[in-house]
Amino acid sequence: MNMNLDYKELMEAAKKASYNSYSPYSGYAVGSAVLAEDNKIYLGANIENASYGLTNCAERSALFNAVSNGDKKIKALALWTPKSDVFPCGACCQVILELALNADIIINSQNSVLKIFKIQDLLPHFFTKDSLK
Ligand code: THU
Repeated sequence: MNMNLDYKELMEAAKKASYNSYSPYSGYAVGSAVLAEDNKIYLGANIENASYGLTNCAERSALFNAVSNGDKKIKALALWTPKSDVFPCGACCQVILELALNADIIINSQNSVLKIFKIQDLLPHFFTKDSLK
């Protein structure tokens, strides 16, 4: 299996997901694609609201889509943003910790190359269910 090729395909799916973005306030269309253990791909886009704080980021949309469909083991999450690369926001990092702790996080945007991270790279100190023990 060619990992990089797979992730390119996953990123293509994330880019396509961004076309479904509902972002009339920011005009910033984000897409995400989650790869589950059974190799199914689940898409998500950012969905905004007139009450801004209710906005759901693309990453959380994609993860909730996977889990809602019964896929709880996540291998990778691709994040596509317009313009330049960004990292998942704090809320999304917390949800990634909960639902996709070991997943590869692949980031890309226009005129950029794929970059691969782990959630521990993005959020080195964190609060998870283990913290409750
Ligand atoms: N957004 C995402 O969907 N994911 C990110 O990683 C960064 C931010 C969305 C939220 C909002 O709809 C818009 O981008 C601007 O913040």
